[in-house]
Amino acid sequence: MSTSIARHAIKEVTIIGGGLMGSGIAQVTATAGMKVNLVDMNEDILKKSGSSIQKSLERVAKKKFSDNPEGGKQFIDDITGRISFSCNPEEAVQSSGLVIEAIVENLEVKQKLFSALDKVAPKETLFTSNTSSIPIKDIAVSTQRLDRFGGLHFFNPVPMMKLLEVIRIPETTDETFNSLLEYGAAVGKTTVNCKDTPGFIVNRLLVPYMAEAVRMLERGDASAKDIDIAMKLGAGYPMGPFELADYVGLDTMKFILEGWSKNYPDVEIFKQSEMMNKLVAEGRLGRKSGKGFYDY
Ligand code: CAA
Ligand code: NAD
Repeated sequence: MSTSIARHAIKEVTIIGGGLMGSGIAQVTATAGMKVNLVDMNEDILKKSGSSIQKSLERVAKKKFSDNPEGGKQFIDDITGRISFSCNPEEAVQSSGLVIEAIVENLEVKQKLFSALDKVAPKETLFTSNTSSIPIKDIAVSTQRLDRFGGLHFFNPVPMMKLLEVIRIPETTDETFNSLLEYGAAVGKTTVNCKDTPGFIVNRLLVPYMAEAVRMLERGDASAKDIDIAMKLGAGYPMGPFELADYVGLDTMKFILEGWSKNYPDVEIFKQSEMMNKLVAEGRLGRKSGKGFYDY
């Protein structure tokens, strides 16, 4: 199948999970002209998803339509008009060419969701996960469509970050993979091809770096603030490791390290962080809960 045919196949996308990532993925997908069904557990969460998309689009429109506020309003209305909200994933997938899962970083919960969706989604619908750390194959085996399964790993904040990691498992067909690359190009991202290895490309390097920064803090080598300043001014990173961990979400960071330390107990750099676990237990999840390593 030619890639242009593949792109036409994806006119509607169902995104499951309307948190930090799912809202951003919904925004860029609708901006690219596709219809979006955004699914989460309840109406209150979906209301928050809708308002975070609205706020993010206002930031985009302020720049893009700086001398034409009416045009900016129309731009936002057109995009939000393509997004529907739902608490019923089985119903939402009925006419979608692509499903992107962005729910909590937990294998059993993801498997349960995909197993249910596999029974009701059209046969040709492609299934993908935005997981940060779980092997795509481990999620895909909960379905009968390993050939139409892959990973689409976006970066936070989705509207700003230009990269999309596209992951294939051995069973992913070229047709499926090309459709995922086409989708990535359609939403304006630069894609890189990844195998199903732990953390793919970016997180394999980034997560151990952030975990080591926490270990530096635990050892008393330097303060969080000084480590952040050092990495911004000395290494050119836009955020220091503690700012970034708070931005990603300490619960997500904890789930990643928990999974890796269980699956790869001999890999030193995948070790869990006691300090991070303690912060999560105290409800300090980072920016999304108003406090993490820092207070917001
Ligand atoms: N939506 C729309 N526009 C946004 C935005 C958003 N969510 N966030 C930032 N912007 C735009 C706005 O235009 C903003 O200007 P206004 O404030 O006037 O609206 C402009 O970007 C600049 O933003 P800021 O002044 O807030 O700050 P900044 O210049 O530092 O940029 C940043 C923000 C892009 C987030 C930058 O700090 C950055 O790149 N940080 C690192 C992010 C990163 O590394 N992400 C990867 C995390 S790892 C991951 O995602 C994978 C995983 O699996 C865990
Ligand atoms: P989040 O906590 O902000 O959002 C997750 C959302 O999923 C919540 O709104 C929750 O209510 C919903 N949810 C949980 N279980 C559900 C279910 N069974 N059905 C429907 N909705 C459900 O998390 P996030 O940061 O958006 O992360 C989502 C996924 O994306 C995770 O797999 C994470 O590893 C990955 N990811 C996160 C980042 C990041 O920087 N935060 C970056 C890339 C990938």
